[in-house]
Parts: sequence; structure tokens; C-alpha cells
Amino acid sequence: MNEQASRLIQLRELEVRENILSSSKIISVCSGKGGTGKTFFAANFAQSLAGLGKKILLVDLDLNFSNLNVLLNQTSDSLLSEFFEQRKSLQEIIFDYSGNLNLIFGDSGRNDYPRVSREIINYFFISLNKVIDRYDYIILDSSAGADEITLHQLIKSDYNIIVTSPEPTAIMDAYVVVKLLSSENSSSLKFVVVNKCLDKTDADSAFSNLTLATKHFLGDSPEFLGSISFDADAHKSILNQQLLVRENPDSKSAKEIKSIANQFVTINQVANISRPGQII
Ligand SMILES: Nc1ncnc2c1ncn2[C@@H]1O[C@H](COP(=O)(O)OP(=O)(O)OP(=O)(O)O)[C@@H](O)[C@H]1O
Ligand SMILES: [Mg+2]
Repeated sequence: MNEQASRLIQLRELEVRENILSSSKIISVCSGKGGTGKTFFAANFAQSLAGLGKKILLVDLDLNFSNLNVLLNQTSDSLLSEFFEQRKSLQEIIFDYSGNLNLIFGDSGRNDYPRVSREIINYFFISLNKVIDRYDYIILDSSAGADEITLHQLIKSDYNIIVTSPEPTAIMDAYVVVKLLSSENSSSLKFVVVNKCLDKTDADSAFSNLTLATKHFLGDSPEFLGSISFDADAHKSILNQQLLVRENPDSKSAKEIKSIANQFVTINQVANISRPGQII
């Protein structure tokens, strides 16, 4: 057996062992279409969970298009690419944002961005498992779409929260994500958040159109996690480079995100109870 093959087998064995030991904590925030509000949601959801006393690691996995640092008006010397290039460990690139919220920032616009393979994503998940005990949840803000690498990441996550908006194009692209996950027999639990809704009807019809198609064509249906209003306060918080749930916690959309965080914690507790041998 050549060296590379035996290294892959070792990696695989380590991966299986680590996965058995870990509870369900890794959440990918994804979408088909770009600009649906993944980063806005992921950051405010992370802060809302932190506000519930949960220890959170939020990772900007929008490779080479990262903008979590801009959203939060933060700079860090340590970026995810340094981990991919094996120049730093995962522990070394973790940024302490607030008591319960740690962050890993990514790069943007590097011409020489390291090539990220499935093996690198496996190595990333193994490294996450080394720090997982420090956190209640690890949230991965993903690239739009589902290219091979992103899809691999989504499949390896315990939960996928698909952020869509009510527009038919966004619903169509959310359907594609569900389809790709289903066709890979992914065991991750799929949820939908409908963002930028004008009213409740907007959210209801978006979700029912999506599930009508997924049930009919795929025999699969994601769970509805909640909806978020199209809100000028959300827009303002982004312009101010502040987290909405901190800057304007009583705004409509902030309350909706906090309610989604509460709902998620409840669902996660039930999901972990029903998986024997796993720690909540
Ligand atoms: N609930 C909301 N109300 C009003 N505007 C919103 C809301 N959510 C997001 N936006 C707007 O949508 C824009 C895109 O949001 P965001 O960058 O979070 O999307 P994304 O899905 O992460 O994009 P990308 O696919 O490029 O990563 C933001 O700049 C913001 O102005
Ligand atoms: Mg984004």
C-alpha cells in the first residue's frame, strides 16, 4: 500500500472514531442562491445562541469571499487559509469575540488561495472535533450554491440550515440544495429559514412551495425553523457593521432570530436524546 493510501485510511479511521465520540453540534448555514442573508443570519443566530448561555464557534467558510469580519467590523491576524496551508492549528486561528462567541475569519480575494479538496475538508472536520468539547455549537457560514467542496461540507455537518428568501429563484435554488443532499443520502437534518419576508403569508407560501416540490420529487421534506422579516433595522445594522441582536434587540427581525435560536436549542436537545450514546 502506498504512503498516501495508508495516510487516507488513517485519516478515515480517525474521522469515524471522532464522529462516534461527538454529539450533534455542527451546523452549516447554506443556501442555493447567493445573497439570501446567510452571513447576516449565521452571525445573529450565533450571537442569539451565545445570549442563551451557549458556547459558540462561528466559522466563515465562504472560501476567499469571506465577509464576516466586515459584518462585525473586526480584524484578525489569523485566517482560515493559514490552517488550510498547515501553517497554524485550528486553535491558533480562533478569535475571542465575546464571552460565549468565538470566531474564525476567512480570506477574501487572494490570488493564491490554497486549493481546498475533500481531504482538506475532512482534515478541517477532524480538527473541529478536537475543539468541539469547548462548544455547544459550531456554526459554519457557507458559500452560496453547492459545488463539490461545499456539498461535502454540508453532508458532513449534523444540521443544515438552508436560508432562502421568498423569491421563486431562491426557492428553486433551495430545492436544488435539498435534492443534492438527498441524492447523497445525507443523514444531516435539514431546516429552512425564510428570510426577507414581507409578512407571514410570504413565509408560509415560500415554505409550502418548497416542500410541495421536495415531497413530490424527492420524498423528502426539510423542517421549517422560522422566518425573518424584511426589515430596515436589519439593513441598518449591516451598514453600521453591528450585530442586529446586539444593536437593536427589540427590532422585529432581531426577535425573530432569537426565537429561531430558542427553537433550534429545543430541537437539538430532542435530537440528541433520541441518538443513543451521544452527549447533549
Ligand atoms: N432580514 C433582512 N432585511 C433586510 N435586508 C436584509 C435582511 N437579511 C439580509 N439583508 C440584506 O441582504 C444582503 C445580503 O446578506 P448576506 O451577505 O448575509 O447574504 P449571503 O447569503 O451571506 O450572501 P453571499 O451568498 O454573498 O454569501 C445584506 O447586505 C443585507 O442588506
Ligand atoms: Mg455570506
